[in-house]
Amino acid sequence: MSSATPEQVVELNDPASGLRGYIVIHSTAVGPGGGGCRFWYYDSDADAEADSRRLAEGMTWKNAMAGLPFGGGKTVIRRPAGAFDRAALFQALGRAIDRLEGRYVTAEDVGTSIADMQQIATQTRFVAGLSEREDKAGGDPSPWTALGVFEAMAHAFRHAMGSDLAGVTVAVQGVGSVGQSLCGLLAGAGARLIVADIDAARCASLRQAYGAEIVSIDAIVGSDAQIFAPCALGGAMTPANVAEVRAKIICGAANNQLAVPEVADMLAERGIVYIPDFVANAGGMINVSAEYLGEAASQVRGRVMAIGPRVARILTEAEAAGLTPAATADREARRIVAQAAAAR
Ligand code: NAI
Repeated sequence: MSSATPEQVVELNDPASGLRGYIVIHSTAVGPGGGGCRFWYYDSDADAEADSRRLAEGMTWKNAMAGLPFGGGKTVIRRPAGAFDRAALFQALGRAIDRLEGRYVTAEDVGTSIADMQQIATQTRFVAGLSEREDKAGGDPSPWTALGVFEAMAHAFRHAMGSDLAGVTVAVQGVGSVGQSLCGLLAGAGARLIVADIDAARCASLRQAYGAEIVSIDAIVGSDAQIFAPCALGGAMTPANVAEVRAKIICGAANNQLAVPEVADMLAERGIVYIPDFVANAGGMINVSAEYLGEAASQVRGRVMAIGPRVARILTEAEAAGLTPAATADREARRIVAQAAAAR
């Protein structure tokens, strides 16, 4: 997807707490910009800003495709190098979000937790991903993201190979919140696991729990698996590593899996089916949306389960149109957003 100009970019700089980063609102055509808060290491402000712009845009297409009443937005915070007061930092972020008066709603992403969202919530109501409340939706979105990816994978595999995931080998890159949950679902379906993470303890616990094979972070892309699931950070697939892939399907949770859009064509030329990340990984945002709107927890599951049939439909349409699944989903998402913009 090409990078379009966002509606608003807010620079965050609060020396007292160490808060430094960006809130980007890419589009509010469909609704308030909805997207999580990433707390990660960046070499420069420019890198953090570029990431926040890409991630915010991805949220626009993700929310549109999932049928959610949200536009796209994202927060990226640079992790302070030295000691810092985490509560104060997220409270400062909460105040910045509050100043946007509801144009942006945040939740968890890489590096943030329910506790961080609770700090933000002391300063603003434009936050979700808080604790679950009785029968209302809420809590950690990661298991829902994992379920959506699992359903996307199962439908994609059935579409391409005609069978279910029993006995299939899946290589999972990054076994954090989503990757771990996904491994549990895959093991439950009888799949074999290959895992890699910069955190060795996370891999070790999956070997213990499910007999997962552990490989190095450099070897995971080319591992001997039918499915490759990028569940770490963005840019897993680059022009340089397309040739390494042995999997038939790429389907994972990470946002912005393709370093550049052309990788979609390069994968298609090799007969590899790439499931657009923003279609597969919408489960967490579906839960966040339901929480924010005060909907019942029971409504979340059906919406997340709909990701699988949506993927199957996109694959069928892509084949009929002679396009990649990425181009097909891109076209549909842009159409939804353009229609919403025209109706405003
Ligand atoms: P997380 O921070 O819990 O897990 C990420 C894992 O990737 C960590 O264990 C980290 O050590 C590992 N990692 C980092 N660099 C790596 C590398 N080069 N090779 C292998 N492993 C590496 O994050 P979470 O929440 O599991 O998210 C994973 C991805 O899914 C992110 O890209 C996130 O934006 C995306 N996502 C997450 C959602 C959620 O509900 N948490 C929703 C939608 C997308």
